Amino acid sequence: MKIVVHIDEAAEWQQALADAFPDAQVVTSDAPADQRQNADYLAVWKAPAHLLEEQTQLKGIINLGAGVDYLLKTPGLPTDVPIVKLRDAGMGELMADYVLYGVLHCYRSMDRYAAQQQHANWQPQHVVAKSQWPVGVLGLGAIGRYVADVLHQASFPVLGWSRSPKQITGLRCYHGDDGLDELLGQVQTVVTILPDTAATRHILDAERLAKLPDGASVINPGRGSLIDEQALLEALGNDSQPGHIRGALLDVFEEEPLPDEHPLWQHPRVLITPHMAAPTPLSDAIDQVIDYVKAFEAGETVTTIDPEAGY
Ligand code: GLV
Repeated sequence: MKIVVHIDEAAEWQQALADAFPDAQVVTSDAPADQRQNADYLAVWKAPAHLLEEQTQLKGIINLGAGVDYLLKTPGLPTDVPIVKLRDAGMGELMADYVLYGVLHCYRSMDRYAAQQQHANWQPQHVVAKSQWPVGVLGLGAIGRYVADVLHQASFPVLGWSRSPKQITGLRCYHGDDGLDELLGQVQTVVTILPDTAATRHILDAERLAKLPDGASVINPGRGSLIDEQALLEALGNDSQPGHIRGALLDVFEEEPLPDEHPLWQHPRVLITPHMAAPTPLSDAIDQVIDYVKAFEAGETVTTIDPEAGY
């Protein structure tokens, strides 16, 4: 059996897989061509097209991340090979840390204190009760649920949204287009943790952003395509003409890296991070990867992604 690994710090993944499958040949994608071809499995994050194109006998592709959008857009992706993805695998906790940080940033007025500090302005801000700070989580997959749960544990009222109806303890669940509008009208912070699909593209467009209450904030650790960036900039406004959106914490963008000249970089009420909210933690994810390979080898049923749906 041959497994080819492509991800940052691939050598550590290679070692972990070689330990789990001592009889297998486990190589990283920078191995010479003859060594990386004829793989049985690819365990990959953002694989280059040539790695996909040159394979002839793949039995499965393991996406070493939660979103499969990048993989599905890669030229050379075979159409007849099952694709599986990681589910939570430690990313939920990392994402929840990121989102909780973002919620607290506005809830405890850290954004305002940063601005005040520029003017040596000592001015405590009023702290409202957490019950007055409902947070909306769009996307209730494994990671979205984890995030929602952590926010709930932190005593924020949490409203969750998914395309189809769901019932989750501790969450007020909404679904469908009307449900989304209803949710947006009530939340102080909205968090987008949806996959990048045709159905989710610009799910927060100008019209939807307009439904958020005055002073609401936006956190996007999901995918850049979820938000119409131009509409967000307009909803944020500028110092002379502030819009109704208070601020945004953005980890993902329509184009990554975010181009140098992009106006989001310069906006004083936007915090930008370089797609780092939830990098796949090897220690939590490796068992899932091993289980996938074992299940494929044993001919067991695995839950594959649906390329049409995009997740
Ligand atoms: C990261 O962006 C992931 O999809 O895992």
